[in-house]
Amino acid sequence: MNLILMGLPGAGKGTQAKEINKKYNIPHISTGDMFRLAIKEGTELGNKAKAYMDEGNLVPDEVTIGIVRERLSKDDCSNGFLLDGFPRTIAQAEALQELLADMNESIDYVIHVDVPEEKLVERLTGRRICPTCGATYHVKYNPPKIEGKCDNDGSELIQRDDDKPETVKNRLAVNIEQTKPLLNFYEDKGYLVSVNGDQDINQVFEDIRTKIEK
Ligand code: AP5
Ligand code: MG
Repeated sequence: MNLILMGLPGAGKGTQAKEINKKYNIPHISTGDMFRLAIKEGTELGNKAKAYMDEGNLVPDEVTIGIVRERLSKDDCSNGFLLDGFPRTIAQAEALQELLADMNESIDYVIHVDVPEEKLVERLTGRRICPTCGATYHVKYNPPKIEGKCDNDGSELIQRDDDKPETVKNRLAVNIEQTKPLLNFYEDKGYLVSVNGDQDINQVFEDIRTKIEK
């Protein structure tokens, strides 16, 4: 199954991707996670991406398309993949169409996790992540068992640099502008399914499951 998860920052793409990955055993490919790893490791890619991410802007298309092309060529994608946060522009979506055609593959579903804009600031500023295993929590909606500590490995939870209130505003504005045309692009192709992302995390997953197993 070849899936794309779409949604504004904080909609719950990463949270749902973890569940989808567990259930269907297809690799979770998050461009945001790939950039964050590159920044942490101090690679050339990380250096290129950092300034854009810190401002809440998009990383240039050619950089982003390049890393996705490389990732999709890996063996573990031969039985399907789950893209999270890519594509984010029409140019990226068109590049993906070409890439998939070259691979003799196509998209099965584009899952739009739909959450009202006014809920997203709280989701983002309340998010905490584990620097060791990458688990995601929310101080109110998905708290760890012990405050400030990861359930999996006990690491001290941290806030993502781009979840600071000053960056969140621009990130949301940039993504709101880019998302509409992309939704239309995939709707026209007949790939788009929408789920209400403003419900309990498990219920959102149930709704996704029902739609993609139809
Ligand atoms: P990326 O890492 O993709 O960030 P994003 O799109 O802004 O999305 P988030 O990861 O912030 O949110 P999410 O939808 O995954 O939500 P989550 O599940 O964590 O990208 C970061 C940056 O990288 C971009 O700004 C850009 O610079 C660059 N980039 C990445 N891809 C790019 C591309 N294709 N082109 C160009 N640049 C690119 O959930 C959020 C919070 O809500 C958590 O605390 C969670 O616990 C909580 N939560 C989740 N679900 C629920 C629920 N149902 N109810 C209540 N709380 C919930
Ligand atoms: Mg995410």
